[in-house]
Amino acid sequence: MTVHAAETAVAAGADAIVVSNHGGRVMDDTPGTIEVLPEIVKAVKGKITILIDGGIRSGNDIFKCLALGADGVLIGRPFALACVKGGSEGVTALAAKYQDQLKQAMLMTGCHTIKDITEEKVIVTK
Ligand SMILES: Cc1cc2nc3c(=O)[nH]c(=O)nc-3n(C[C@H](O)[C@H](O)[C@H](O)COP(=O)(O)O)c2cc1C
Repeated sequence: MTVHAAETAVAAGADAIVVSNHGGRVMDDTPGTIEVLPEIVKAVKGKITILIDGGIRSGNDIFKCLALGADGVLIGRPFALACVKGGSEGVTALAAKYQDQLKQAMLMTGCHTIKDITEEKVIVTK
């Protein structure tokens, strides 16, 4: 969740970091992971793989994380619930839904490939 922690991971030779507040479950008032992502990306992008999780609930959310510099996203609770309700079919259906939503967002923003999803494709407000 901090530039310092990300730089420490780089210095330690880690292959990747996960920008995560543990699903918001550990401490109230912790910032959202997407809020801290840009400063971490600025500090360590290209030096280490940057993953992010916490509250990602649609293909649009995936698009926003990629646009702000994440190399990939992780999704927890929705897949756990999909598995409980629908087993492997439920998990597959949810992945397909997120994939469709991401494709739709890419279509609407003129992104032909994942690499085309850049910061200019989103508006960041404070
Ligand atoms: C039931 C449950 C248990 C979790 N246990 C841990 C844990 O022991 N350690 C940890 O770092 N994160 C834990 N997490 C957080 C997940 O690793 C992950 O950061 C989070 O689920 C991602 O957010 P999302 O569920 O909103 O997609 C847990 C999450 C859930 C839902």
